[in-house]
Amino acid sequence: MRIRIIHGPNLNLLGLREPDLYGHDNLDELNKKIQDLAGSLGVEVEIFQSNSEGEIVDLIHQCVGHADALVINPAAYTHYSIAIRDAVSTIRLPVVEVHLSNIHAREEFRHRSVVAPVACGQIAGFGSASYLLGLRAAKQLVEEARR
Ligand code: DQA
Repeated sequence: MRIRIIHGPNLNLLGLREPDLYGHDNLDELNKKIQDLAGSLGVEVEIFQSNSEGEIVDLIHQCVGHADALVINPAAYTHYSIAIRDAVSTIRLPVVEVHLSNIHAREEFRHRSVVAPVACGQIAGFGSASYLLGLRAAKQLVEEARR
């Protein structure tokens, strides 16, 4: 089973960026945790980060025929990118939306996700563990779909 992980804009600066909100792990450290869990779950992961909306749309499209599920933190695009929402609904694969912070406990403009209604579910507020929970959820969704 292969699961694609996409980190959206500004997540390349994890560790430096508002650590009180996003934690002290940098992106490499977070990716190592994801890779370690994937290894113990027997799942192959491929991890991408992009600051650009169009590139994220392309990365989502490439899942078709290539990945079994997607775990995505669309970051700020979560709140307004109809292009990313449409890409997620187009691929017809299990998609789990993740956020490091609890977006529902923050500014009002972060409460709304335009992606969540077309994802299988959303995990937010657990720091790096949001991705690990997201990976477990994505694996389970793929297994359920195969049964
Ligand atoms: C975020 C939450 C978003 O509102 C914010 O724009 C981000 C990160 C999170 O992981 O908590 O860049 O997606």
